[in-house]
Amino acid sequence: MSLAIVTGAARGIGRSIASRLAEAGHALLLVDLDERVHDTARELGVGAVRADISQPPDVGRIADAVRAHRDEPRVLVNNAGITRDRLLRKMAEPDFRAVVRVNLGGTWALTEAVAPLLADGGSVVNISSRAQLGNVGQFNYGIAKGGVIGLTRGHALALAPRLRVNAVAPGFVESEMTAAMPADARRRVVDAIPLAAAGQPRDIAEAVAWLASEAASYVTGQVLYSCGGRSFS
Ligand SMILES: NC(=O)c1ccc[n+]([C@@H]2O[C@H](COP(=O)([O-])OP(=O)(O)OC[C@H]3O[C@@H](n4cnc5c(N)ncnc54)[C@H](O)[C@@H]3O)[C@@H](O)[C@H]2O)c1
Repeated sequence: MSLAIVTGAARGIGRSIASRLAEAGHALLLVDLDERVHDTARELGVGAVRADISQPPDVGRIADAVRAHRDEPRVLVNNAGITRDRLLRKMAEPDFRAVVRVNLGGTWALTEAVAPLLADGGSVVNISSRAQLGNVGQFNYGIAKGGVIGLTRGHALALAPRLRVNAVAPGFVESEMTAAMPADARRRVVDAIPLAAAGQPRDIAEAVAWLASEAASYVTGQVLYSCGGRSFS
């Protein structure tokens, strides 16, 4: 069986990606710093590593778990991410550094550690964000997610022709990350989406599953916006 590694898989979009890849026939290794990753893994009947992708020793433990797995690693989905939203004039350096360290640094470090272990013809899918085009209060996040697109292209070139590397850029998706948003702010965001609805984790999982699959075997270094048309409106 082929193995897919999904980070940030305890909940939300990552959990949905994991269950969609299981439907596609992959064995799974879930990664998350939240201990709930073990509950999610039990529910899906798969393996898990509790680890922080922004900490080098943890990245080493994830790579060890991939090496020790009986299934052949073919897919890496770099989904783990955080926000620390602040208006630019109120943003403190730790908010900036933490968001870049996890979203961009963690994605880079894990790809460097796991890509050599993926079988020929394998695929890496990074989760960027439509916010990389600019969102008030998300200067740090936008930079980190824009960086993920640069990283996607860099790794696509560096790892070709052996592996493909692509990104999915979600718009506003219902998850714990967005649940804390006040109702009026949420309404304003949804009103600006041409398809007039928030995205669901499954929408992102479908895009990831396609990029990870043989159906996308001639696609690398690309960004697939799954954002209800918000990327150009
Ligand atoms: N929800 C949205 O509207 C939206 C939009 C665009 C992009 N995204 C991106 O999609 C991804 C998933 O978002 P979500 O909405 O499911 O968020 P979420 O907060 O519900 O889930 C993120 C998961 O990542 C884990 N995580 C965070 N930091 C980690 C670390 N250092 N190491 C390991 N695991 C870590 C968390 O514990 C959590 O389980 C993120 O990269 C996010 O930036 C989300």
